[in-house]
Amino acid sequence: MSERETWATRAGFILAAVGSAVGLGNIWQFPFKTAQFGGASFLILYLIAALGIGLPAILAEFVIGRKTNLNTISAFEKLGYKEWRVVGALGLFTGFWILSYYSVVGGWVLRYIGGSLTGAYFAAPAEYFGQVSAGVEALGLHAVFMVLVVGIVAAGIEDGIEKATKLMVPSIIVILGILAVFAFTLPGASEGYAYFLSPDFNALAENFGDIVPFAVGQAFFSLSLGMGAMITYASYIDGDQSLFGDGITIVFLNSFVGILAGLVVLPLLFAQGIDPNTSGAGAVFISVAGAFGDIPGGQIIGLVFFAVVLIAALSSAISLLEVVVSWAIDNYDVSRPQMAVGLGSFIFLLGVPSALDSAWLGWFDTLAYKLLLPLSVLGILVFAAWVYGAPAVDELLKGSGLGEGVGLTWLWIARTLVIVAVVATLALGLETLFV
Ligand code: PFF
Ligand code: NA
Repeated sequence: MSERETWATRAGFILAAVGSAVGLGNIWQFPFKTAQFGGASFLILYLIAALGIGLPAILAEFVIGRKTNLNTISAFEKLGYKEWRVVGALGLFTGFWILSYYSVVGGWVLRYIGGSLTGAYFAAPAEYFGQVSAGVEALGLHAVFMVLVVGIVAAGIEDGIEKATKLMVPSIIVILGILAVFAFTLPGASEGYAYFLSPDFNALAENFGDIVPFAVGQAFFSLSLGMGAMITYASYIDGDQSLFGDGITIVFLNSFVGILAGLVVLPLLFAQGIDPNTSGAGAVFISVAGAFGDIPGGQIIGLVFFAVVLIAALSSAISLLEVVVSWAIDNYDVSRPQMAVGLGSFIFLLGVPSALDSAWLGWFDTLAYKLLLPLSVLGILVFAAWVYGAPAVDELLKGSGLGEGVGLTWLWIARTLVIVAVVATLALGLETLFV
């Protein structure tokens, strides 16, 4: 069998991981939830969750990946815990599942790039969204999005994913930065900032029981945890580097892009007097899209905005296809392009119901968010911190120049705080799953 691929550079790995983390979650979920849940007060809470819970969890995935240089299922076997492959399999399945409908949303984004150019959604944004978000056209664009994903993954780690994300991640940051400056010049921008970031400790205190699990769940989803993505990407690391350093960089950049997205979309909405009191798909595809119709140069601004959303979605989606492709080529005598096409087609088929009927999309998302993701994160953490334990600390510290104390701190935070947080998120999710 040919030699397993690796990243060409450390920066390549970091940018690919940031590309995975920065996605639709940052742009359509984070800004609106932050505003709704108490602005700057929520932001502080989220950053605590991202650093205190998300960071230890991403490090657990990095350790498993780098130690074994194997896909998310075989990794557990190589570490000597064959039965724990089931946890890897759950992560792989979760990634598969999420990608099926994420790609449908990617198709909507493609539609909106075209719609910006022609101004198709300007007059009646809500009706337009209703027409294009489900049906044969949505199915066709879901296929186009999957073709793009397959194309990048088929080209390989260094020539496909690394080259693509090296271009995509800086573009996301630079273009969002430019859009934020443009949004700043709009009348009403300051109200947008106030709505986004004014601290509201009452809002936080009153809904603390909902907000904390949301912050934790968002930290996991946002960092692409529990989908096998970070185990897989770390498995292509060649040699020693500080996983701590990489993890902190990734957590920081992921949060930064969420904040930057808020500095774009909320001033845009307030400039047009649009009520931002909505979130999810409606917020980006209806409210934000609606604002472009009334802004000078709205066609171009809309085009650029949806192009950034597309890049963010693509650089996330490739990480999920890679999880499955990696497993297939590690274990079977098949070529990467063949597998990318085959598995990509399969994921496309799984997404057909979501493309034809938004109710299915909602159901797929709910099941992933409330059950599959937290369960998978829990399995990985229990494994890394309790079952694997001491060798995980050694692997974490390797090449980091950090002392044993840092490693043990990670171990005990992962063993206690992080696991309690995941169990609580899982319990709350299950409680509401069937209602
Ligand atoms: N980290 C991604 C986000 O915040 O949007 C989550 C994700 C979703 C990654 C779907 C990959 C993916 F295909
Ligand atoms: Na994210």
